[in-house]
Amino acid sequence: MQKEPKSEIEELRKVIKYHNDRYYVRDTPEILDSEYDKLFQRLLLLERENPELVTPDSPTQKVGGVPLKTFDAVKHSVPMLSLENAFNDDDLRDFDSRLKKLNNSRIIEYTVEPKMDGLAIELVYEGGKLKVASTRGDGATGENVTDNIKTILTVPMSLHDISGSGSIPRLLEVRGEVYMEKQDFENLNRTRSVENMPAFANPRNAAAGSLRQLDARVTARRRLNMFCYGTGTVSDYGAETYYETMLFLQRLGLRVNRPMIKICSGIDEVIERCHEFENTRNDLPFEIDGAVIKVNSMELQEKFGLKTRSPRWAIAYKFKAVQGMTVIKNIDVQVGRTGALTPVAYLEPVEIGGVTIRRATLHNQEEIDKKDIRIHDTVIIQRAGDVIPEVVESIKSKRTGDEKIFRIPDSCPVCGTEVIKKEGEAVARCPNKKCPAQLNAGLKHFVSKGAMNIDGLGDKIITQLIDKDFVKRGVDIYRLDREKLLQLDKIEEKSAGNLLSAIEASKETTLARFIFALGIRHVGEHVASVLANHFKSIDAVQKAGEEELLSIKEIGPQTAESAVTYFSDDANTAHINDLLNEGIKFEEIESDEESPVAGKTVVITGSITSMKRDELKEFIQRNGGRVSSAVGKSTDILILGENPGSKLEKAKKLRIEIIDEDNFFNRFKLG
Ligand code: IVH
Repeated sequence: MQKEPKSEIEELRKVIKYHNDRYYVRDTPEILDSEYDKLFQRLLLLERENPELVTPDSPTQKVGGVPLKTFDAVKHSVPMLSLENAFNDDDLRDFDSRLKKLNNSRIIEYTVEPKMDGLAIELVYEGGKLKVASTRGDGATGENVTDNIKTILTVPMSLHDISGSGSIPRLLEVRGEVYMEKQDFENLNRTRSVENMPAFANPRNAAAGSLRQLDARVTARRRLNMFCYGTGTVSDYGAETYYETMLFLQRLGLRVNRPMIKICSGIDEVIERCHEFENTRNDLPFEIDGAVIKVNSMELQEKFGLKTRSPRWAIAYKFKAVQGMTVIKNIDVQVGRTGALTPVAYLEPVEIGGVTIRRATLHNQEEIDKKDIRIHDTVIIQRAGDVIPEVVESIKSKRTGDEKIFRIPDSCPVCGTEVIKKEGEAVARCPNKKCPAQLNAGLKHFVSKGAMNIDGLGDKIITQLIDKDFVKRGVDIYRLDREKLLQLDKIEEKSAGNLLSAIEASKETTLARFIFALGIRHVGEHVASVLANHFKSIDAVQKAGEEELLSIKEIGPQTAESAVTYFSDDANTAHINDLLNEGIKFEEIESDEESPVAGKTVVITGSITSMKRDELKEFIQRNGGRVSSAVGKSTDILILGENPGSKLEKAKKLRIEIIDEDNFFNRFKLG
């Protein structure tokens, strides 16, 4: 039965108020931001359709939570508002159309900047001295957290006019976001786990929890940061644009995220910038959950004015969720190619950012214990880029008593061999090299994209090939014939033919791929290409001693030992010989002297047009270069694709050579 709008509205208000309290007051949210947004949007819609039901105490008419009793209340001279949300490009275009209507259809200049995932704070400077710092609270009144804020190194105790050109305002109310960097968040949680304290779910909760400490000495030990993004009352100052205001704050010694504030003319550029921020968010040292779009002209800001809860001249573009909440149906153990036993959570399917997630890794027993994750727990799942989704935490308040503690078994779930856990290692391993699970995972790795790259040889076929005893090692794949393939389920003439051609085509490969395909522990794609470039032949790699391996810049003792052990095993040597006898051939490695990237560290930013990013990566590696994902002091070259991200700014600052895609390839033609 359809609910009456009145009762649904009341219900929604109750639920939203409850979650406001968990989020703003207790710093322990029980639902995801995306779910909260859904509830809020639904309430907004119902109230828009039924304006007579809007009441002043509705969460849509107020901002945030109520102040905590334990801190003194501080009244904001100008209310601290919230932002309306845009969830897609259309929402942004609607926002622009609304404003253009108020602006005689004239194009509007906007700024776009990251939406920091922290908490809003107001600093009041009188005569240049920091007098009061407060949280947003309900927008009108917040909590006095001055002592705690004073422990933040990037918040100046007094303003100084860095440029020396102007005077310091008598009164300056400045607003910004206090946040914790990802690295500091991880360090904090690590320490807390040692001290048996519950982990913070994300950097924002950690920042909020750290700031709302009654004892400022605790705050001082947490590494917090602040970026300023706005003002309340300011005496004796008139800026013409938002951007200028930010420059003004910066001149006074306040921290502003200036390089990331982009001026855009019109909404198309805004949308482009928003996508760019979304695509590069993982490269940043701090969490951002969206982009904030503001009208740059102060005159227009004033003209467009405010709504109850938010300014009409700004909007937050929210990124697609990376976290989701669901229930663990069961936990099982998977045996990998090196025998590692990995606990895997089987989930009630949940959609995160457009992808349905059914399984997530729990890493190892230590992680399970530390996070206290049990079967039937309600958990938060996170996916980031291409990596396997992981279970971030369990929501203890949702436990019913039906939860079951999970322990990794003492023997391999596939072959029954007793598992081994080395001192100082978190991972338990099945030591049986003939374990079918290891064979299966090893073969999957052997045929995978970065290795022998055999198209169409999926999981199901591999399992059948092993079950029928057709394949035990990689080389057996090259000995398959039509007759054998036709005995497999779902394989008929045509697919058998395709598979055989794919197998044949894979014989022409590179030395790096081949080394990677062998599945040597600690030898990932990058190390494999380092080895290939250094030794230039499989023979030389096989003969290399530990000392020679260690003399290579990027090879450490673990890898060196693992490689030597692998190549001194007769069965492995025989396998390599068999593979070569089956006709596997390597593309010539270009000689170092001729290659413009030999020994250099290269970073790619923006989208590459002439080939796939992976192909460019391989091209660089084949020519003796290394590809890194972040710009740092050791970066030699930055390749500039279309719509570059923040890496460009960083490379400029570090004076790293920057070259566009075309010119990069031209160097190779000349060489
Ligand atoms: S401007 C009048 N800029 O997002 C609106 N807010 O829901 C002033 N936030 O309360 C906000 N980064 O805590 C602005 N670059 C940024 C921001 C930002 C994060 C937060 C802030 C605000 C909330 C909006």
